[in-house]
This record gives sequence, structure tokens and C-alpha cells, in this order.
Amino acid sequence: MRTLVVYYSRKGSNRFLAHKVAGGLSADIERIRPWINVFLLFLLKIHLGIRPIRHKAESYDKVILVGPIWMGRLIPPLRSFLNKYKERIRELVFVTCCGSTDARKDEKFGHGFVFREVEHIMGDKCTHCRAFPIDLVLPEEKKGDDQAFMQTHLMDENFRGEIQDRLEDLIDKIRTQKPGRYQVLNDKSGV
Ligand SMILES: Cc1cc2nc3c(=O)[nH]c(=O)nc-3n(C[C@H](O)[C@H](O)[C@H](O)COP(=O)(O)O)c2cc1C
Repeated sequence: MRTLVVYYSRKGSNRFLAHKVAGGLSADIERIRPWINVFLLFLLKIHLGIRPIRHKAESYDKVILVGPIWMGRLIPPLRSFLNKYKERIRELVFVTCCGSTDARKDEKFGHGFVFREVEHIMGDKCTHCRAFPIDLVLPEEKKGDDQAFMQTHLMDENFRGEIQDRLEDLIDKIRTQKPGRYQVLNDKSGV
């Protein structure tokens, strides 16, 4: 099975996660490069698209898209990637390291809405969506603390315990998954 991991990351957590996923699946990996990478433009709702990726999406059995969530939205570089390559992608898995927890996934800024957008764009080609809330690496006393999660980034020192189990579970599911079966893997049971 040939797998390509494609990611966008501003502060590094999704880059770290993308490399973990790629390592676990022996996948190729590539960064999404917007033509202009200025965060202010996102706030102004201006997006000029992304540069072409160097790998050929159609040569892969699966593409894994990894990136953050901002303001409860599928962010422009990820949306551009999906719209640009959806015809060439055979199967898509969407993975995010985000701020929203499993318990809050269906709130206004939760990842649940973004998962539904990805599924809407990709249809049956989207086989898994999986969240890695940053809360999973916070110490017990800091969980739910917005300031703590904004200042915390995934790294080797904190990537252990539940978040590591979640990654192993995802890798296992991707490896053994039957084609064409959509699963939202965003709760602790992983089902
Ligand atoms: C301006 C801004 C808005 C954000 N909005 C959301 C949100 O609506 N929902 C969410 O789950 N996380 C939100 N987050 C948290 C990011 O998804 C999270 O910090 C992510 O890990 C950052 O990824 P990166 O380090 O790869 O850039 C937001 C972060 C920023 C900076």
C-alpha cells in the first residue's frame, strides 16, 4: 500500500503529528505551501490558493491530510488541497491536532463540523477522520485551560500516553481498513 501524508501546520503540532503518521505507515510526506502564507489574510478571509504538490496524488492508494482547525473552520490551505486534488485522490484520511476536545467536538468551534465538511467535499473517498486534541497532552490540572492549550505544542517530550495510543490505533485502522468504509474516529473508543 502506497500512502502519502500531506500537511499544513503553522505552529508545528500538525507537522509533528504528520511525521508521526508518516513514520508509522512508512509513507511519503509533503508540506502544503500556500502561495502567500500570512495568517492575517485568513482573518481577512483572503486566500490565494496553494502551490502544486510535488508528489502525484493519483499514484497513492491513500492520502492522509493533516492540519489544524481555526475558528471552527476547514482552513483555506486544507480546503484548497481537497478541491484541487479530490479527483486524483483514491482514499482520503483526515487527521487534525486541534484545540477542541472530544466532549466539545459538536460545539461551534469543535472539530465535528470540520469532519463533516471534509466528508462533504470528498464523499465516499473519505474513509476516516480523526482528532488529536492538544488537551490529551496537558497535565490533569491544566485540562480545559484555554491559555495552556494555546501555549502547548506536540513534541517528543509530551507525545505519550493516550495520544500515542490514539496514533497507534489510527495507524492500525488505516492499515487494516477495508476500502470505501467511512468511519469518524473522534471519540475515545476509536469506533
Ligand atoms: C486563531 C486560532 C483559532 C483556533 N480555532 C480553533 C477552533 O475553532 N477549534 C479548534 O479545535 N482549535 C482551534 N485552534 C487550535 C489549533 O487548531 C491548534 O492549536 C493546533 O494544534 C495548531 O496547529 P499547528 O501547531 O500545527 O499550527 C485555533 C488556533 C488558533 C491560533
